[in-house]
Amino acid sequence: MPKTQTNLFGEEDIENLHTLNKEKNASNIKKVEAIKSQKGLSLLRNVQFIYELALAKKELISFGLDFHIANDFRTFEVSSPQDVNLLKRRLAYFWSMDGIITDYYQIIKYNQTTSVNQYLTHWIYPYKGKFHPQMIRALLNIMQVREGETILDPFVGSGTAALECQLLGINFIGIDISPLCYLLSRVKTESIDVIEEIEKIKKEILSNPEKIKNIKNEKARNFFIIAQMVAHSDSARRGRNYTFSFHSNTEKMLKSLKDYIEVKNKLNLRLGKVDIVRTDVRNLDLQEESIDGIVTSPPYSIALNYVVNDSHSLQALGYSLKKISEDFIGVRGSGLNKFKLYDEDMAVAYEQMYRVLKKGKYCAVVIGNVTFQGEEIDTTQIAIDTCLKIGFKLVSKMEKIIYGLYNVMQKEYILIFKKE
Ligand SMILES: C[S@@+](CC[C@H](N)C(=O)[O-])C[C@H]1O[C@@H](n2cnc3c(N)ncnc32)[C@H](O)[C@@H]1O
Repeated sequence: MPKTQTNLFGEEDIENLHTLNKEKNASNIKKVEAIKSQKGLSLLRNVQFIYELALAKKELISFGLDFHIANDFRTFEVSSPQDVNLLKRRLAYFWSMDGIITDYYQIIKYNQTTSVNQYLTHWIYPYKGKFHPQMIRALLNIMQVREGETILDPFVGSGTAALECQLLGINFIGIDISPLCYLLSRVKTESIDVIEEIEKIKKEILSNPEKIKNIKNEKARNFFIIAQMVAHSDSARRGRNYTFSFHSNTEKMLKSLKDYIEVKNKLNLRLGKVDIVRTDVRNLDLQEESIDGIVTSPPYSIALNYVVNDSHSLQALGYSLKKISEDFIGVRGSGLNKFKLYDEDMAVAYEQMYRVLKKGKYCAVVIGNVTFQGEEIDTTQIAIDTCLKIGFKLVSKMEKIIYGLYNVMQKEYILIFKKE
């Protein structure tokens, strides 16, 4: 059994490492050396919940590490050989490893918001029901998805999994029925390709937004359309001035793109290819056994009406709410029939997911139960039963807290299935 050892230095010290390195006085040199010689893996400061600790342990196990948790519950001492470079690039819940700072810790510093999860372009558009990006990174590790492999999210929403896969060099296919999600996921992952074009036309577009529709470059046009959608959301939900919000969000989005390019260069990231398709998951046009892993979160039964929730943006994009509602799972139908349709639609969706997944690969589903007329409906168990019937094997069910002042739901589940 390895000796119990807690780390002497914390994240704050590592933050000062560069400054300390520059100011080369004797005591600082000592401190830098001490940080560098620090042994073991240290959990990031934002790791606070049991499910996060469980995922952190699982990601280490997936990399084949033997470890021992110290008495501080934040330091993991590793007693097996390790691929330091791989761990540095991949780990989600740790900020340092034997004095080496992980990529993730450096990536999350590039954040234009005050919310710890909203680094790089994750923050763009206040989409309700977003994944926790750190959790996605950990799940990709746990599922042992490697660079160059392909992950599918058939309910891609605001594109959280798309960006996390891209950062890890994992190829990604994202599906969503919502035209807003289609644009949003593309903008978060594609706009860095056209940053020069965006900067060139910014002044002209901000003074005359009418010209957005004439922008020839599709990626640059999408960037400004989404900046408008953020402004629509800001004015509809928070009563902000639309023009002011359009200007300030365009600038903030641009800063996030610069951040993305800077961190990509700094860490020498090889980005994964991202393909976003606007279609209905029930008609998934992908080849049988072509996908190396699935990470997704479907609508939680009828819990959230995605059409009503983003009505201001969908209307601004020129869509009829009534018409598009017909294809949204969990929104289709009325009264009690909604539940029946949801179960039928999700059975088809899970069948499609099973069909396209390669044998021996994993499918992670984040889902929660819904309360209807005071009664809890076990959407999670329905999902498990449906998947087992199709042929999936359930390898893990983990409870996850939903943290936030305004959340109605208290918990959800992370289910991991395997296609054997
Ligand atoms: C829980 S959200 C996904 C959120 C996402 N994980 C994120 O991080 O933003 C569920 C998504 O399912 C999409 N959806 C609903 N019906 C669909 C269908 N028939 N085909 C594909 N996507 C659908 C909704 O538009 C919504 O974006």
